[in-house]
Amino acid sequence: MWGSDDEGGEEYLFKIVIIGDSAVGKSNLLSRYARNEFNMHSKATIGVEFQTQCLEIDSKEVKAQIWDTAGQERFRAVTSAYYRGAVGALIVYDISRRTTFDSVGRWLDELKTHCDTTVAMMLVGNKCDLENIRAVSVEEGKSLAEAEGLFFMETSALDSTNVKTAFEMVIREIY
Ligand code: GTP
Ligand code: MG
Repeated sequence: MWGSDDEGGEEYLFKIVIIGDSAVGKSNLLSRYARNEFNMHSKATIGVEFQTQCLEIDSKEVKAQIWDTAGQERFRAVTSAYYRGAVGALIVYDISRRTTFDSVGRWLDELKTHCDTTVAMMLVGNKCDLENIRAVSVEEGKSLAEAEGLFFMETSALDSTNVKTAFEMVIREIY
């Protein structure tokens, strides 16, 4: 986190990381939030990508640098570098695939190994547009989040449900 004072106004830069199993929709959540884009046929992420998004909170300019990496182990970059300096995290699963919810504990362990306890964390159940093939109930998501002390939200990168809200809740919590 950096605070500066050029041009008379304060400026903040926050690093936020997105983690979770492959194909849960991490990259599409980021592209929906940062560029209002969705790709039905997006390829698995290789390495690391990031986008910077500016927003105004209490008339201060806040920049969120949001990092997205591969869910697949073989495509991931150096783990410690990915997490370094992060002050917020979105842990994403896919509500239509149970295994991705079962993995949340492992992602949390990794996050806690590499970040300090003050990091603002949100559990995100993505693809809530797929109600007809839902495999994880809203209650299960909520209670896991409560047990682990995380915020919780269901989102859809496809139809935009809660995407902005989820990112901005984490950013506001940090700020
Ligand atoms: P890795 O980069 O391999 O870790 O995957 P990822 O988590 O970045 O997943 P990605 O964003 O590439 O999305 C995987 C697939 O799910 C793509 O076919 C997307 O179009 C689809 N998808 C992503 N978000 C949603 C959503 O909210 N609803 C639906 N129905 N499909 C989605
Ligand atoms: Mg990706």
